[in-house]
Amino acid sequence: MTPEMLSAARSIPSSCLHRIFRAAEERAETTGEEVINLHVGDPYFDPAENVAEAFIDAVRRGETKYTGVEGMPRLRSALVDKLREDNGVDTAVSRLLISPGSCQGLAALLQSLAEPGAEILLPELHWPVHLQQSVLAGLTPVLYPLGADLRPDPRAIAAAATDRTRVLLINSPANPTGVVLDEQELGALLDLARSRGWQVVSDEAYEHFLYDAEHTSTASLEAGLPVDERIVHSVFSFSKSFAMTGYRLGCVALANDRAADVMKVVQEANIIGTSTPVQYAGIAALASRATSTAANRKRVQRNRDTALPQLIRAGLLSELPAGGWYAMLDIARSGLDAQTFAMRLLETKGVAVVPGDGFALQPELDGHGRIRSHTFAPFARHLIRIAFCVDPVQLETGVRRIIEFVDECAADGAQAPAVS
Ligand SMILES: Cc1ncc(COP(=O)(O)O)c(C=O)c1O
Repeated sequence: MTPEMLSAARSIPSSCLHRIFRAAEERAETTGEEVINLHVGDPYFDPAENVAEAFIDAVRRGETKYTGVEGMPRLRSALVDKLREDNGVDTAVSRLLISPGSCQGLAALLQSLAEPGAEILLPELHWPVHLQQSVLAGLTPVLYPLGADLRPDPRAIAAAATDRTRVLLINSPANPTGVVLDEQELGALLDLARSRGWQVVSDEAYEHFLYDAEHTSTASLEAGLPVDERIVHSVFSFSKSFAMTGYRLGCVALANDRAADVMKVVQEANIIGTSTPVQYAGIAALASRATSTAANRKRVQRNRDTALPQLIRAGLLSELPAGGWYAMLDIARSGLDAQTFAMRLLETKGVAVVPGDGFALQPELDGHGRIRSHTFAPFARHLIRIAFCVDPVQLETGVRRIIEFVDECAADGAQAPAVS
């Protein structure tokens, strides 16, 4: 295939997450030893019992035919209530679409917002899927530098924007940084977007995992505006809040009816619909949300408060993440770069973590929206990401081994044995 024929999809490098996922599976298979999985955001706890029951009951009743592309009216209506009561977002069933996982909802949303030549603003430390999806949708990612404490700074965002900018993506609590934005910070970003005529995508997959504050939904800040003038499209997930990662359920609350109509067409082409029994499970999850979301947050917070302080004492972490399921560790003291560190840690200690440079890809695109080349932001060279939503004993063990490994590498001048 000549370079001119290369598709945008073929030009996108595979995510660092999936590479480490495969390496961890391979190691477990070849050695027969258990790998401590700190690389994936999959919780150690299960959905509430009524969720599985609702799913099984739906299958038994034969509720296994297609639903409309938008999703079941009962689930959409329950979500409209939840968004009004819990998030302060006044959406309507007509503007709320169910998706098979929020990741798919996000992809469809970006496809529906993309215009030829349009740019999307992402932070230089971002969830790789946001970047991959942008390129697939035909949006050119423009990466803005993060300010102090890895927080988005409106001045830096304004400076990175061009006259082709159309979308600003906000992710609070953030993957991978754990940063939580307060109402004032979100307001400043929204004011900037509004003044420049941009659309805002607010990815709130971790809305129930804030440890020191209440979550603010970006769209709640435009609740007083006429629907036609709203610009915030919000994406929510059942995966994290209700521990339903494998069910695959999410939703998108579109800013206005125009945007909802476009996304419906995109979803007609993409999914036809979301699994019907899974949607019944979603209705059950929402019904028991008051107890389940609080319990799930407590579980992850306990992990954070028990295991992560050791990393602070070891000089690998500056402070506890304010939200989300991840911590970014600085392993510079080991003398290894993050890629080498992750591979050797897996090989010698059986612990899987994600090298941070995978969250800091800096692509250069050609005139056809394809990635011509890429580098990694130098500041991420010594960062690794761990997930702290995992089994507490595994987390403790993993953290202990990471500290041990950093100490060993530092002691022998980073001459750790080569990976075979
Ligand atoms: C920031 C962010 N958004 C969205 C998702 C996707 O969640 P799902 O597709 O499981 O709903 C994830 C999953 O890790 C995530 O980290």
